[in-house]
Amino acid sequence: MPEKSAQAPTPQVSAWRKALTHASPDRADELAKRVAKQLPTLQNRLSRTYGEGVHVEELTEQLLKAAVDIALLRSQDLWDLDLFRQAQPHWHQQGAVGYTAYADHFAGNLRGVVERIDYLKSLGVTYLHLLPFFKAAEGPNDGGFAVANFELVEPRLGTQTDLQFLTESLRGAGISLCSDFVLNHVAHDHEWAVQARNGNPDFQNFFCLAHSQDEVDAWEKNLPQIFPDTAPGNFTYQPSLKAWTWTTFYPYQWDLNYANPKVFLEVVSAMMRVANLGVEAFRLDSTGFLWKRQGTNCQNQPEVHWLLQAMRALMEIACPGVLMKAEAIMPTHQLPPYFGMGETPGPECHLAYHSSMMAASWVALAEENVSILNAVIEKTPAVPTGSSWLTYVRCHDDIGWNVLKPEVESLGDAQHQRLLQASHFFAGLTPNSYAQGASFQTTDLKTAHGTNGMASALVGMSSASNADELHTAVDRLILLQSLSFFTGGLPLLYMGDELGLGNTSAEILLARQGPDGRELHRPVWQEAHAQLRNQEGTVQHRIFSTLQSLAKLRQQLDAFHNDTPVTLKKTELATVLGLQRGRDLTGLFNFSRQAVTQELAPGQTIALKPFGFVWLQTNADKTLRSLID
Ligand code: GLC
Repeated sequence: MPEKSAQAPTPQVSAWRKALTHASPDRADELAKRVAKQLPTLQNRLSRTYGEGVHVEELTEQLLKAAVDIALLRSQDLWDLDLFRQAQPHWHQQGAVGYTAYADHFAGNLRGVVERIDYLKSLGVTYLHLLPFFKAAEGPNDGGFAVANFELVEPRLGTQTDLQFLTESLRGAGISLCSDFVLNHVAHDHEWAVQARNGNPDFQNFFCLAHSQDEVDAWEKNLPQIFPDTAPGNFTYQPSLKAWTWTTFYPYQWDLNYANPKVFLEVVSAMMRVANLGVEAFRLDSTGFLWKRQGTNCQNQPEVHWLLQAMRALMEIACPGVLMKAEAIMPTHQLPPYFGMGETPGPECHLAYHSSMMAASWVALAEENVSILNAVIEKTPAVPTGSSWLTYVRCHDDIGWNVLKPEVESLGDAQHQRLLQASHFFAGLTPNSYAQGASFQTTDLKTAHGTNGMASALVGMSSASNADELHTAVDRLILLQSLSFFTGGLPLLYMGDELGLGNTSAEILLARQGPDGRELHRPVWQEAHAQLRNQEGTVQHRIFSTLQSLAKLRQQLDAFHNDTPVTLKKTELATVLGLQRGRDLTGLFNFSRQAVTQELAPGQTIALKPFGFVWLQTNADKTLRSLID
């Protein structure tokens, strides 16, 4: 299993210092300062991770050399941006709005995305996450998450020049580009995997190999399954290696062996080089899985956090203006360490997905009851200054129900049925359900795994048979978005949801490769549909213009600074969620089909429409002003 490889002895003269002697004095000074600041953390986290059997000094040297070299190659624009952001560490903390899309579905390719910048701006977007656009495996590739080359752009989507043009154009418009960086695995046709298959032991040690069925079974005993239906098990036998490769996700995605420090060196170096193309944020895909430990479920191990903190220290040297975002789809209580709030505190990720809040808001909709949502928010801590929650309604993945297990269990016995019922509801299996989604990775009616479908299909827009039903369905969609926009440090819109776009058409689904059910919510942009946003009276106009208003409020009000705490506000009704953002902002969200009233203070009663919401500001004289008409 993961082996640690020994390193050469420490060289006499520090290579990174030598590199600085050729640099301009301002860069040399600045970099020397950054290294001095980050070195203690870097050394500490690397020693914790690789302590025995590895020359940590040598590894530190190599990593510093990589970071300094990359910083010296950084364009003047990006270097200046780093300095600006170092001086204003809160640059991303006020009024951010995110958007996520597949480049091809959204705009054909990277050049096409440039054409859509005005559109994004009109929506108030400040952050664009394009799903994987680096070279992917030939054949099935998990929507690009099986990466064959960390730095070459997928030829279908463009070139490195196109990528640079895109990042520059976005930056000019005040939008940061976020790129996935798939940390946990590479594609089976990535150079490292090819070398490993060809018998190169150095590269074999880049992967987690098991050499017998017994070894596989010993690990499997404690491992959950991510894709139990389409990719059962966590190991794949490789005849050419006469061994099994660890494959947490699909068999063609080989998990990397982070116990080998060379893997860390190579991966972080590639990431910093990509930052030099103008990428301003990295979505660290599948972060939770990086460290394997016998006897555990191999998720969220302490080493994951030490490595992320070492990575952050290196980014602070090479490209301090760049954000790190954890994609750890884990229960709420396991997320704070990704912000560096764990047993080894220290700067880690700037952002993390709040998938429990997302899933709980869907349960609240299905049940017309906010108790699980309340439990999630109660367990959501304030995060360190400079970091924030990413909130969302939908994304390219399924809605995973299991993240909610701890909250559901905390509510008492017999509660687990609630997740199953929600899953049936959104798959349209419950009598009177308006939803037109589908279950993901389970055909067993007794198991809740995930749910697929575009938000509009899940809230009942596609099943609506008259104008009233359609109106109510749109209310539900806006309600969920209003909650995400109220609570989030970075609310993220999924392409199409701002227009109520429906599920992928059957025709397109048929033409796509592979059986992955998540394709249901990966539709292609429809220009005619998008144009309707400009026409008053259409649902597209209603959704789009409401989101524009919410985005504007996020930009205007101080209460939306990310350091402002969001806390629960008690309500009298099980259907109404009450939230307080700082002292002056109150949000009420009605998850029921009934119009209700809620008393906030003696004499101040607030009326909420069915599936309605209000954002209220407390005036100086203590009266309340509604911010949304
Ligand atoms: C992340 C991605 C998901 C992908 C998986 C494996 O969870 O969001 O789409 O299948 O990682 O890379």
